[in-house]
Amino acid sequence: GKVRAPTHIISTISDDRGEEPCYAGVPMSSIVEQGYGVGDVISLLWFKRSLPRYCTHFIEICIMLCADHGPCVSGAHNTIVTARAGKDLVSSLVSGLLTIGPRFGGAIDDAARYFKDAYDRGLTPYEFVEGMKKKGIRVPGIGHRIKRGDNRDKRVELLQRFAHTHFPSVKYMEYAVQVETYTLSKANNLVLNVDGAIGSLFLDLLAGSGMFSKQEIDEIVEIGYLNGLFVLARSIGLIGHTFDQKRLKQPLYRHPWEDVLYTK
Ligand code: ACO
Ligand code: LMR
Repeated sequence: GKVRAPTHIISTISDDRGEEPCYAGVPMSSIVEQGYGVGDVISLLWFKRSLPRYCTHFIEICIMLCADHGPCVSGAHNTIVTARAGKDLVSSLVSGLLTIGPRFGGAIDDAARYFKDAYDRGLTPYEFVEGMKKKGIRVPGIGHRIKRGDNRDKRVELLQRFAHTHFPSVKYMEYAVQVETYTLSKANNLVLNVDGAIGSLFLDLLAGSGMFSKQEIDEIVEIGYLNGLFVLARSIGLIGHTFDQKRLKQPLYRHPWEDVLYTK
């Protein structure tokens, strides 16, 4: 019989060998002709399945509302400085992307991990938050530089409203809100932030859609798929900031001396 030579790469998400590329088995013509959106493409390439419309719509809302947050945030600042140093699009983009991490935009996976663990173990918000404090870990998904208890993040509210209307269950998000109620009683800046909202709501999406086994949910959370939403979304804004600086012909950026505390 035929002997198959061992391959050096295994790939399961896409195939370009036929007449047209396929994403998770779905040919490009179906994707275009059936009016699929970016949320469907993400479902196919990341989760290897078609998800119900409310899930793909939720993914698209995450992408839209994380696409940019003005020029002053870490990522945009890096991109702007890099573009003004005369660097190309890819360099300016990755310079901004490299700031995404545990403090900025990259707390979604950890928020999902910690909220899931705390909820599934039946911890009260008090036990969870104080337990994290004892371990010296900031609660991922909680806290913001400019948002406050009396000046909430509109993006969080929009995500919550969508999920309340369309998701069969929002138990993880409700738990995150209880955590927020407790943290806000400690300090006014400790709001549920957009990372925490997406992290908790994605747990609800995974658990409530009936499209994922428990084992698959654990794997998604463990591998850490969800920061990808912020990385993908913010790339849109960072590319925009690069074009903006180039269009404006901005000179090399140099930080003003007056804004540095020179000290021994
Ligand atoms: N959990 C517990 N306590 C916190 C948290 C938190 N998540 N955030 C702040 N605090 C408390 C701490 O007591 C902190 O004191 P410490 O420095 O001794 O730990 C105190 O508030 C003051 O913290 P600051 O550093 O002044 O807060 P800042 O405004 O600089 O931080 C930040 C904002 C980075 C978002 C912070 O709240 C944090 O680390 N949160 C967790 C990570 C996270 O969710 N990041 C995503 C933010 S949303 C986005 O980037 C799109
Ligand atoms: C963002 O989405 O970039 C913001 O939430 C972060 C910030 O510092 O405002």
